[in-house]
Amino acid sequence: MEIVQRILPMKESSKKARSEGKVIGFVPTMGAIHEGHLSLVQEAKKMSDVVVVSVFVNPAQFAPSEDLEKYPRDPTRDAELLSNENIDFLFMPKVEEMYPANYGTFVRVNELSEKLEGVTRPGHFEGVTTIVLKLFHIVEPHFAFFGQKDAQQLAIIRRMVKDLNMDVEIVRVPIVRESDGLAMSSRNVYLSPEERKAATVLYRALDHALARIEEGERKTKTILKEMKEIISTEPLARLDYLSATDLIDLKDLKTLKGKCLIAVAAYFGNTRLIDNIIVEV
Ligand code: PAJ
Repeated sequence: MEIVQRILPMKESSKKARSEGKVIGFVPTMGAIHEGHLSLVQEAKKMSDVVVVSVFVNPAQFAPSEDLEKYPRDPTRDAELLSNENIDFLFMPKVEEMYPANYGTFVRVNELSEKLEGVTRPGHFEGVTTIVLKLFHIVEPHFAFFGQKDAQQLAIIRRMVKDLNMDVEIVRVPIVRESDGLAMSSRNVYLSPEERKAATVLYRALDHALARIEEGERKTKTILKEMKEIISTEPLARLDYLSATDLIDLKDLKTLKGKCLIAVAAYFGNTRLIDNIIVEV
């Protein structure tokens, strides 16, 4: 594994791999690597000759009130975990080079960026699409791997790629969970032991929805109401939103049909967690 910290050598390595006819698979991350990230790497390895992982805590996607400063950073541990996976390149650019003082270009995917997460995190997805576009230009991947954990992010990136006629295929990778169902997340380290226990209520609510859908329930109002009841039994959980939408446009569904996304966001103390399931009916 080669660690690359500058943009130019990363570009040169990608160009060289492409010129040799190699397929490049890319996994963008913000580090604090966990099993969820590693499952993206494993998918990337299956589909590519050269695997590039980026670790970059992207200031542009954090609001001033958010956790940019305290976001968990451990580049040495990240490098060790990724080196064990035998990836080819670990790209760790510096903020100063990605966003020099006169930086002025941002990409925004309208509508999709404003709902769900976008309501409580205005500007967040503009930061995400901007950095992902920049990284795609640097790494020039054939395939890029994103977790279903951030289902809205995935939908927005797919739309950006389509709208901007980009030659990269976006691959969705299922959510990796702890043994008690909690979706793995770099932010789980913020949870106190009590909050960590309480946080499993999100998966219990989603699992209940899944069971009800398997029984034949199709009315989202009913399903979301029952989920809300489950979450309200947990005093440490403060619900932000519950939604049932299609997967592509994230439009609210009255009745479940086709591929649907059931998503939840809730606070446990100051920590905001998200989770979701995809169901096909
Ligand atoms: P980060 O939160 O580090 O996540 C990197 C990738 O790992 C994302 O595609 C995310 O969906 C995926 N991921 C996180 N937890 C997962 C889990 N439990 N199971 C499966 N996949 C999981 O998402 C970002 O970083 C940033 O917004 C980024 C795309 C890197 C742009 O800065």
